Amino acid sequence: MKHNLDHPLRPQLHFTPPANWLNDPNGMVYYDGEYHLFYQYHPDSSVWGPMHWGHAISRDLVHWEHYPIALYPDHNGMIFSGSAVVDWHDTSGFFDGGAGLVAIYTQTEMIPNSDLSKQRQSIAYSKDKGRTWIPYDGNPVLADERYPDFRDPKVLWHKPSQSWIMVLAAGDRLFLYRSPDLKAWTFASEFGSAEGSHDGVWECPDLFELPLEDGASASKWVMIVSIGDNPNCPEGSRTQYFIGEFDGWAFSNDNPADRVLWLDHGRDNYAGVTWSDAPGVESERLFIGWMNNWKYANQIPTEGWRGAMTLTRKLTLRQEEQGPRLVQQVVEAYEGLRLPGSVWIDKRVDSQHLQLDEAEDGLIQLEVEFELGTASEFGIRLSSGSSWTSVGYDAAEEELFIDRTHSGLLDFHVEFGCKHAAPLAAKDHRIKLQLWLDRSSLEVFAGDGGLVMTDQIFPIEGKKGISLYADGGDVVLRSLRIYPLQSIYTSQTTGAAG
Ligand code: FRU
Repeated sequence: MKHNLDHPLRPQLHFTPPANWLNDPNGMVYYDGEYHLFYQYHPDSSVWGPMHWGHAISRDLVHWEHYPIALYPDHNGMIFSGSAVVDWHDTSGFFDGGAGLVAIYTQTEMIPNSDLSKQRQSIAYSKDKGRTWIPYDGNPVLADERYPDFRDPKVLWHKPSQSWIMVLAAGDRLFLYRSPDLKAWTFASEFGSAEGSHDGVWECPDLFELPLEDGASASKWVMIVSIGDNPNCPEGSRTQYFIGEFDGWAFSNDNPADRVLWLDHGRDNYAGVTWSDAPGVESERLFIGWMNNWKYANQIPTEGWRGAMTLTRKLTLRQEEQGPRLVQQVVEAYEGLRLPGSVWIDKRVDSQHLQLDEAEDGLIQLEVEFELGTASEFGIRLSSGSSWTSVGYDAAEEELFIDRTHSGLLDFHVEFGCKHAAPLAAKDHRIKLQLWLDRSSLEVFAGDGGLVMTDQIFPIEGKKGISLYADGGDVVLRSLRIYPLQSIYTSQTTGAAG
């Protein structure tokens, strides 16, 4: 089923549902050459509603094939977010001694005569490589009715203690559980009620170990936590992470409790988690987030589909001055979408905008390096008809920003049309950026992936252009490469995984 793929706002690089509403990525697991992506799906409407798990499979993390809905609401309730693992040694007993896939997810049902819901964890298994799923007849496997918010289980295998670990969001904290068989869960510890940002309810955690990029033997544990929208925060829903240690029972934060590390400084990357069992998982994690924000997710001006994922990214850990930090890059397989590009080298940019290529289809990858000059601000402007969005650098404030105040359709939510910034220091007087424009989204990776900004935009139709600008002086363009990109609907799967 393919609908409306040619709509001028329809993403051509990013995963979108065949039709209707999508939110969080769920159950991401790699098995037998296939990357599975499940997702929060309302198949009957383009606004949030009774949740199912939609399903897609990819071999290269770029091209996706839609599969039938994997999990439907049942007598235990709707199917909320969760994860999936390969049960290699049949600890669950579902697979007659072989291996198979187990999904672990939240089921939510309303408590009769109240507006409260109860949230409990269930499991389902697949004996046919994820094509069909059988809910376990002992569901739910974990309940604790003291907590109204009790959801989004992420499960991992902890080798040293030969145990399954579940991290679960419970309002303003995380609970960790252990299990030998994915069915019986024992409480192990809690984390976070006094750590990091509490601007919103905690949701969609993830926990994994990564070595430091420098090749040293040291590794650290990363805990990702999404935090829900708060009407008083213009940022809306967003994602933070912690760096620390995990001993199989408890996670401890290496940083002071009030230090907040944001995974993405843009407005549209939420509920992202990483793939289980992917090749190379010991040195990098594959990540996808929901490219939206609860502040306006139900109102974004798309037709036929509503919601997309971020590009698939690789997460690694780099030692920075202040300690280890996550670094993000899109997976290499996207480079297979490049068409022949154009290159500019050593050009002075000043108040005369430097007009570059036309971006006919609104699908481009751009790599740019500026050397600071006298300009107080400079950047790249992407225009479409009378609308434009800029990605710029404020030299005095040492901040990278996205300005979507003129990006096109804005009036679906008062807080959408904003300019927002994040700290970015120049390295050797240079600012290096990589941009991915996909019609209605923009992903900016700065400083080799140490800073990321993901934003949706809804441009007005019209002639598309790319220009460079500088205000209050000049800046030197050291290099610029622009590649038009092919749509994932017209290009071929490259086969190799990123
Ligand atoms: C996060 C979230 C999860 C929940 C799901 C429901 O976006 O609120 O906490 O499981 O969405 O669709």
